[in-house]
Amino acid sequence: MHVGQCPWLLATLSAPPFVPRTLVFAATLLALLAGLAYAGDAAWRRTVRRWVDADVTLRSRLAVAAADASLTEQWRAGDGRLQRTLVAIARDERVLGVAACSEDGALLAVTASMPDAVTCREVSRSARRRAVDSLPYTRIVDLDSTALHIAAVPITTPIDGGGFVVLVHDLRYAVVRASSARRQILTAFLLLALSASGVTVLAAALAQRQWLLALRRALAGEDTPALRPLVREIRALARHLAGDPTEKALEGSWTAERLRHTLVRLLDGERLVILANREPYIHQRVDGEIRVMQPASGLVTALEPVLRACSGTWEAHGSGTADRDVVDRYDRVAVPPGEPAYQLRRVWLTEAEEQGYYYGLSNEGLWPLCHVAHARPTFRIEDWAHYRAVNQRFADAVCEEVDGDDPIVLVQDYHFALAPRMIRDRLPGATIITFWHIPWPNAERIGICPWHEELLEGLLGSSVLAFHTQQHCNHFLDAVDAYLEARIDRESVAIVQGKRRTLVRSYPISIEWPMRRLEGALSVAAARQAVCAEFGLPAGTRIGVGVDRLDYTKGIEERFGAVDRLLATHPELVGRFVFIQIAAPSRSKIDHYRDLDARVTALAAEINGRWQRGAYRPILLQRSHHEPADVIRYFRAADLCYVSSLHDGMNLVAKEFVAARDDAQGVLVLSRFTGAARELTEALIVNPYDLDESTQALAAALAMPVAEQQVRMRAMRRLVSEFNVYRWAGQMLLDAADLRQRERLHGRLQHTPLQR
Ligand code: F6P
Repeated sequence: MHVGQCPWLLATLSAPPFVPRTLVFAATLLALLAGLAYAGDAAWRRTVRRWVDADVTLRSRLAVAAADASLTEQWRAGDGRLQRTLVAIARDERVLGVAACSEDGALLAVTASMPDAVTCREVSRSARRRAVDSLPYTRIVDLDSTALHIAAVPITTPIDGGGFVVLVHDLRYAVVRASSARRQILTAFLLLALSASGVTVLAAALAQRQWLLALRRALAGEDTPALRPLVREIRALARHLAGDPTEKALEGSWTAERLRHTLVRLLDGERLVILANREPYIHQRVDGEIRVMQPASGLVTALEPVLRACSGTWEAHGSGTADRDVVDRYDRVAVPPGEPAYQLRRVWLTEAEEQGYYYGLSNEGLWPLCHVAHARPTFRIEDWAHYRAVNQRFADAVCEEVDGDDPIVLVQDYHFALAPRMIRDRLPGATIITFWHIPWPNAERIGICPWHEELLEGLLGSSVLAFHTQQHCNHFLDAVDAYLEARIDRESVAIVQGKRRTLVRSYPISIEWPMRRLEGALSVAAARQAVCAEFGLPAGTRIGVGVDRLDYTKGIEERFGAVDRLLATHPELVGRFVFIQIAAPSRSKIDHYRDLDARVTALAAEINGRWQRGAYRPILLQRSHHEPADVIRYFRAADLCYVSSLHDGMNLVAKEFVAARDDAQGVLVLSRFTGAARELTEALIVNPYDLDESTQALAAALAMPVAEQQVRMRAMRRLVSEFNVYRWAGQMLLDAADLRQRERLHGRLQHTPLQR
């Protein structure tokens, strides 16, 4: 039978409701025992009746036998002495009455206490009716609710036709004794039944728990011979539910389906737990209503499709003004809204914690430290204390979310450098993949951070530590070499501490392909029209676009400088070229960011003032959050996209622009200081600090023939489609699965004595 056809198994696997089930079992057991007690009681009554009958009959015979000689004599004499002998027999307190009857049922003598209802004739008739040939005849009757025992005992030497003595015993004493014994037996039985049910329920719960644990371990890879067939069936069912794709069908490109399949096949269908500071959906209260927003974040752009594909939990800081209003009592909410695929678990921070951990250590310390963008990092001891405490809080929350001892946890970014070690301490068997989304600087620079050793140690709690580029990996290895006691295995590119090893790998991050956000997007022509209408631009206006968070690493000032110079060197573009800059406000509590905002706004105004002609302004600065659909519209309307980061781990805007251009047109101008520049080599690669070079690149982009645009764009689209985010996640999971298996084998070898 297939596991899916077995309802009790499904019920057992799907739930913790063993408590109600065992209660039902206990109730059934109790009902059965009650039935048994009822039947036993009837049998008990019959037995007691038999005992009493036998006992009283014996007493009756003994009484008659004791008086036998006198009775025989008096019987013959037939005088008043017979009456006295009967009275003597009736002296026994339990004897109610005694009568002497002739063989044909005539009364010879009787004691006064004999109940009226008992007569010689009636007793003689009953004895004959019952075909009782020889006396004694006995019977138990209820007279006025009193149980009476009637015995007819023959006199042993009957002369003149013989006769019998009728003795009537009062049985109340026996009834009282029998009820008391019955009560005691029933109480003992009840106690026995209750303890038996209790022990059974406990034993069943324990057995079920053990069984589930064993099943879970077996599903996680431990070899349990007894469960092998079941585990095979469950895996088959999981594959079936995941669409049952065959290996063959999955060869080639990475898709959401293939990623899901990889997880099922290699990692036993484990749920993923992602730990990231930024949440993929933010609930905000706007004008009394709750609105859902998607933040401007490359991390979210990349990871959201991964979790949609694999399902699991995304753990993040609940930063929205209405975030608390939509979560359940475990601080979870199912997302994406309307088509839930995974759980978002929110962790709450106080203002002080957010200030110290997020704004302070993460964004005034580590962010400028890791980006070579000429902003001085600031390190404050109190920020470090918050950073540590918040990392611990998130690590604890991860441990609450996971299913077993060896979950797969994906830790994201510089906000959580300490969390991998903290998770490892609590879950030594966990597979922890940490991805560092920003550049990793050289060893000398990382040493600026007063807590660089703690950061390195924290990250080495990971099973796999991943960066965008090999250069970042090399920098990390150098830093470990310089500051820690650890062995660097250059052969397998891993860091070994005791028995633990951390793989250090580069996995260039990417975006989903095909891009879901493109569904329902305007055609390129319609997008151009819409954008021109939005800004009041004449048809035919050439459009450049930039999409960034307002961050000093993005080189927005350098970008505006290039636009300014372009207009100066190509006056024919004045009035005919605009640059739309989407700038999402970011980290605005930090001075650097507020200053940048002011500088960028002033610079745009200055350049616009210089080139203003009537309604014409060359720089259209949009300092607000834009939802993904708006961003896609700008990408599709543009002739060029300029990504001018001064330093950037990857920069997914470049890849999103490429993905948005299914018409294979438009030119990407890309800073060589982005990770993306190593992959998108058909872009016009520039040094954003070099105004001449970037101005020329902008001019070349605007002058590029369509055929050349198509050749370049198609090559970049091929690359992004191939090296999409499913491959990124899939490769990391494959490596993690590999490591996991090797560690398990290693552990098993260590615990299994060698066979000789
Ligand atoms: O680039 C680093 C990064 O954390 C990204 O992963 C993310 O897209 C961006 O910064 C967003 O930053 P924040 O979460 O601070 O708004």
